[in-house]
Amino acid sequence: MGSETAILEYNGKRYELPVVTGSENEKAIDITALRQQSGLITYDPAFGNTGACASAITFIDGEKGILRYRGYPIEQLAERAEFIEVAYLLIFGELPSPEELTGFRDRLNHSSLIHEDMHHFFTGVPSTAHPMAILSTMVASLSGFYPVPDELDFDAEYEILANLISQVRTLAAFSYKMKIGEPMVYPSYKFRYVANFLNMMFSSPVHKYEIDDEVVRALEVFLILHADHEQNCSTSSVRIAGSSLANIYAIASAGISALWGRRHGGANQQVIEMLTDIHQNGDTAQGYVDRAKDKKTRLMGFGHRVYKNYDPRAKVMRDLCHKLLPRLEMAKDPLFAVAMQLEEIAMQDAYFIERNLYPNVDFYSGLVLRAIGIPTDMFTVLFTIGRMPGWLAHWREMIHDEGFRIARPRQLYVGETERSFFQRGNAPHYRHVKMPAREVKRL
Ligand code: CMC
Repeated sequence: MGSETAILEYNGKRYELPVVTGSENEKAIDITALRQQSGLITYDPAFGNTGACASAITFIDGEKGILRYRGYPIEQLAERAEFIEVAYLLIFGELPSPEELTGFRDRLNHSSLIHEDMHHFFTGVPSTAHPMAILSTMVASLSGFYPVPDELDFDAEYEILANLISQVRTLAAFSYKMKIGEPMVYPSYKFRYVANFLNMMFSSPVHKYEIDDEVVRALEVFLILHADHEQNCSTSSVRIAGSSLANIYAIASAGISALWGRRHGGANQQVIEMLTDIHQNGDTAQGYVDRAKDKKTRLMGFGHRVYKNYDPRAKVMRDLCHKLLPRLEMAKDPLFAVAMQLEEIAMQDAYFIERNLYPNVDFYSGLVLRAIGIPTDMFTVLFTIGRMPGWLAHWREMIHDEGFRIARPRQLYVGETERSFFQRGNAPHYRHVKMPAREVKRL
């Protein structure tokens, strides 16, 4: 934090606002005292220009296409690290020593079973339910089985972290098994985190799932790339819900609900649906690009609030497709060729060039998941497993910040000014308010 100031002149008065500086020399005008001094608030719908907190977890330079977790470039972590090592790094700030990693792995293993009584919850879920709806319900329900004390010491926090990182994976696999009508497969101490998940998803009493190291590695990379992305929609939801000191399982459920949306984590499912449409249903890549330009729809897997360059995660994911697809049975996935064609058309189009719209992580991630055998409606669930450590790291950072307050944005009121209830004259009791006819857009 430095000694620079910014001057605001308004109504003949000058206000000096401190300028704060981050460790990568990013500057921000501190307006925390602005309303008190001037009566003014700042107006920034969708928070595109607002720093809601200071955070030491993840650094993004959207113009240069840089992403680092705790200072480590995402490309290096994707090449070498294990997902749970990255989870530990995000949450505790440093990479674990070999002993710490073993201890963390054991703890996750120990926490991987969900309470047996929770199995009943699955039986009442309609088969039409989206797995994200099931997951957010189940994660909130954990609060009933694992009470959280008001005052959290390190052990209580560690239990929460282990439960959520480990059980979100068990719950995800259970909801899939329920959906396809197969018995749930329990987690096993024989497997590490990712292999354990694959086994719970794909083995059955009549079929032993063979763990393939390359598939495990691909899923490790997928999860690492999704593990955190600073103040995105779901992480901000987690921070906002967490700022009320709500129950942590309910907070995580809030994150899941926000992630589900198709402008956020839900985009990976939409990308595959779009590619399938082009491949099978007679639509064309050019048609999708044209409709996106006409604002009739959005090109899914394209564009990002922060990246105005190629999303570094998308690059790693695209390379992974090149490496993985030729090796697996789905090698000739026709959707990969469709994706490449769509990217080529969009990247040469003036609309996309002018707006700096590049493929984001979701554009290629669905292809990797398909190659592994994950069904399309489980894609966002996989994103959730990846993002859980990031949410927990932000929650923990926030509650350990002594100055943190409940999140409470202001607003600019644009409704009716005062009018009297008693002076309605002969007007009918209820004025029929015609809702503005809204064009139904799938944007
Ligand atoms: N297709 C067509 N036009 C687009 C797209 C797109 N995918 N994305 C943005 N634009 C246009 C937008 O209409 C606007 O045009 P104009 O200036 O003429 O009004 C301009 O580009 C700027 O867009 P914006 O609305 O200011 O962008 P945003 O920061 O509010 O939204 C986004 C970011 C990711 C929600 C948006 O790009 C989008 O909807 N993309 C498709 C959904 C998607 O792929 N989401 C995954 C995001 S990455 C994973 C994650 O973090 O969840």
